[in-house]
Amino acid sequence: MTLQVDQELSKHVSIKTPLPGPKAKEIIEKEKKYVATGTKCWETPAVPARGQGVWFQDVDGNVLMDWTNGMVDLLGHSHPKWVQEVSEQLQKYVYFNAPDFPSPLQADIAETLCRLAPGDFPKKVFFSSTGTEAVEAAYKVARIGTKRNMIMSFLGDFHGRTTGSLATTTSKSVQRQHYTPYLTNTYALPFAYCYRCWYTLEYPSCDLHCAHVIKRYLKTVLPPEDVAAFVFEPVQGEGGYVVPPVEFFQILSDIAKSHGILLIADEVQTCFGKSGYWFASEHFGIVPHIVAMAKGLANGAPMGATTLPAELDFPKQGIHSNTFGGQAISCAASLATVKIIKEEKLLDEVKSKGKYFKDKLMELKDKFSCIGDVRTLGFLMGVEFVKDRKTKEPAKELRNRIVEECYQSGLLILSCGESGIRITPPFVITRDEIDLGVGIIQKGMEKALRQ
Ligand SMILES: Cc1ncc(COP(=O)(O)O)c(C=O)c1O
Repeated sequence: MTLQVDQELSKHVSIKTPLPGPKAKEIIEKEKKYVATGTKCWETPAVPARGQGVWFQDVDGNVLMDWTNGMVDLLGHSHPKWVQEVSEQLQKYVYFNAPDFPSPLQADIAETLCRLAPGDFPKKVFFSSTGTEAVEAAYKVARIGTKRNMIMSFLGDFHGRTTGSLATTTSKSVQRQHYTPYLTNTYALPFAYCYRCWYTLEYPSCDLHCAHVIKRYLKTVLPPEDVAAFVFEPVQGEGGYVVPPVEFFQILSDIAKSHGILLIADEVQTCFGKSGYWFASEHFGIVPHIVAMAKGLANGAPMGATTLPAELDFPKQGIHSNTFGGQAISCAASLATVKIIKEEKLLDEVKSKGKYFKDKLMELKDKFSCIGDVRTLGFLMGVEFVKDRKTKEPAKELRNRIVEECYQSGLLILSCGESGIRITPPFVITRDEIDLGVGIIQKGMEKALRQ
C-alpha cells in the first residue's frame, strides 16, 4: 500500500494574520475553558493544522518553523517512511491486549532496545506509555532488586510528575506545590551545573567537588547499604539544558560501583539520538544499569520503556504491569524510528549539524552580552540569558520577550530553567533552515533588547 503524504508545505515562514490568528483564538478559548491547567505556552500559542519536517502550518494558514518538536518528533513532522510504516500497522490492528499476549512487534522492539541500550549484559524491557511511568518502573526494579529503598537524585533534575518520580523532581518547586508526601527515602544532591555551581566553585579548578563530596554524604547521612540507586538526567532538560563535565558521571559511576548502588539514567528527554548517540550516557562513557526512555522513542507515538538487567527482572508475575505498554502502534512507530535513524545515518547528522548549530550560537554569544552561557550536546541545546555577565542575574523577562518575538516572526522555541531557551529541532533540519532560525533569534533578541 502506498500512502498519500500531505502536499508539500512551502518551506518558508509566512505570517498572514496577527498571531494567534482568529481561528487559533477560538481554539485557545475553548481549551482555556475545558482543558485543565498544565504547561501550555499561552504567550506563544501555536495551533497546528499540519506539519512537515521542521515546518508546520497553523489553523489560520500561517507557516512557522518548529524548533520544539525534535524533543519528541525526532524525524520531523510527518516523515513519509515513518507515516507509511505506522499506517500499515494501523490497518492490521491497533490494540491486541498488549500486556497479556505476546506480539512480534513487542518482541522485536524489546530485542532492539536491549541491544541499543548501553552495556554488554543481558537485559529486559518494561514497556509503558510515558516518561514518568518509565521512571517509576526503574525505581521499582531498583528497590525490589537491591532490597534497599533509598533513591538519590540531583538538584535541578526533572523525572516526572507522578508521586514516585515527583519525589526526585527538583527543577522547579511549583511542580511539588501542595502535594506532599511523595515517595519517601529520596534525597537530592547538587548537580554539576558549572555555570551556576552550587558550591560557587569554578570548573576545572573545583576538581569536581560536587562529585567527590557524595562520598561524604554516604559516610554521614546516607548509609550506602540502604541506597538502591542514583538516578540522573545525563543532560538536565527542564532544569536548563545543563551539560555536566564527563568526569562528573565517571566519578559518580565509580562511587556507585564501590557500594553496589545501581545507576538509573533518566534518558526520557535525551534518548534516541538527540545527543548524537542513541543514549547520552554513551557520551559520558558510563554504563547505567537501568535506562528510562520515552519522548522520542517512538517519534511521537506515546511510548515509555525501561531497560533493566535481566537478573533484576520482577521476581513474580503481576508485580508490575499496565494496559498500554507495548501496544502495537507505538511498537511499530519505535521500530520505524530506529530503522530510519539507521538508514538515514541521522546520528552522524546530529553530530555534524549539532556542531554547526553550536558555532552559530557561539557567534550570537560573542555579539550579545545578555547571553550568559551556551550549552550543547548534539541537538540538545540550551542558551541562558542574564542581565549582567558578571553577576549572572537571570534575565527571565528578556528570555520571555525573545521567545515571544521569535514566535511572532515565525519560529517556535521553548523556555527551560529560570532564564534559558532550549533548541530541539528535528534531525532532518537543513543548514539553511538552521541559518534562517538563528537569524530569527538574532532579530528577536535585538527587538527584545530595545523594549
Ligand atoms: C528527563 C525526563 N524524565 C521524565 C519526564 C516525564 O515524562 P512524561 O511527561 O512523559 O511523563 C520528562 C518529561 O519532560 C523528562 O524530561
